[in-house]
Amino acid sequence: VLTRRGLLGAAGAAGLAVGAAGGVFGRAAAGDDGAAPSLGAASVPFHGVHQAGIVQNQQSQALLVAFDLATGATRAGTAALMRRWSDSAARLAEGRPATGHENQIALDAGPCSLTVTFGFGASFFDRTGLAAARPEALAPLPDFPDDAIDRSRSDGDLWVQICADDALVAFHALRVLQQQAAGTASVRWQMSGFSRSPGATARPMTTRNLMGQLDGTNNPRASDASFAAKVFVPAGPADPAWMSGGSYAVVRRIRMLLDNWENLPVDRQERVIGRRKSDGAPLSGGTETTAVDLARQNPDGTLAVPADAHIRVAAPAANSGATMLRRGFSYHDGFRADGAPDAGLLFIAFQSDPLTGFVPVQRKLAGADSLSRFLRHEASGLYAVPGGAAPGGYVGQALLE
Ligand code: HEM
Repeated sequence: VLTRRGLLGAAGAAGLAVGAAGGVFGRAAAGDDGAAPSLGAASVPFHGVHQAGIVQNQQSQALLVAFDLATGATRAGTAALMRRWSDSAARLAEGRPATGHENQIALDAGPCSLTVTFGFGASFFDRTGLAAARPEALAPLPDFPDDAIDRSRSDGDLWVQICADDALVAFHALRVLQQQAAGTASVRWQMSGFSRSPGATARPMTTRNLMGQLDGTNNPRASDASFAAKVFVPAGPADPAWMSGGSYAVVRRIRMLLDNWENLPVDRQERVIGRRKSDGAPLSGGTETTAVDLARQNPDGTLAVPADAHIRVAAPAANSGATMLRRGFSYHDGFRADGAPDAGLLFIAFQSDPLTGFVPVQRKLAGADSLSRFLRHEASGLYAVPGGAAPGGYVGQALLE
């Protein structure tokens, strides 16, 4: 199970330092003086082999933003922007003020587990004269059946994922990065997401999505032998070499048809997913962490996990081993003209290659998954997320220098 605590341990094992205050969850236990643990002091280092904001479990706030480079932006100008952004992200992750453009929005707060993750869209390579360096894995995602994609809220030259356990800290980082981009890049689209607040549940748990399901149970675990190969581009003989330690992020804004969903009785909702709502246990039996038994039959001979259940159709076993690390956030942007909530999932999946990860799975889901009747994919992006920066360096340096 991808519990926050479990991930922390795994992140440590993968050589990813996590702040002394306990990183993303766990939060340092109450001190000897009985003081409450400080959520604000928790920090996730910006520097490392991989960028921050991938293996750590979701913080409570997420701001996703895409930028387009200004006409005439140069490779050197873009490199300078990535250096400014990386310097700021590293400072803010330590709870230090940004250089220039410091607006006091996050004054008084600690880093609150802030992570800033940078990615490059396919169009980035044309705009910077680097078309020959564009990875094959960044080929545009195909159109899937029933997609309703708004291109103005999709794609973009640069993608930034800002996550923190405090909304002011996250907004502060967004403003700093936007101001530092002035003249080089401007905002193309922005989306806001949220997840469980730390401490909201009595013990660390898999978070729920807006359909009320435990979401994230069967994510790959960092302790799995194949985890690094499935999520990260290999170090060493990476193709292309500048993506060593990097990953590919698929971002989909998926609206949930909540009025239809909530009209469905709970037992039917459970058959749509293939897991119990209350505790996330698979319908084949056991508890949330019990392995799913896809062959299991009910006494009447029907499949315990129905043929069109989401977890059956999406399972790696049904998709030639296709695996991705899902790290999505809920969103709610008010109500549509018909009164339905404009709400759903900002689906974010990290993988070493989308052509063997997201693409085959989504192709199958779009046709065969009974959950898809309750969803509309409304925006889409695919980004190359380079490996992490070393202190003094910046994200994307191996490509841009
Ligand atoms: C599993 C919900 C979209 C891939 C699950 C589970 C839930 C869920 C509740 C079971 C718990 C878990 O293992 O996390 C949703 C919702 C979606 C959505 C509400 C849209 C709003 C997608 C998409 C993909 C995907 C677009 C990939 C193309 C998976 C995979 C699993 C999974 C691979 C694990 C299956 C296994 O047990 O091996 N999802 N999902 N999901 N989902 Fe989704």
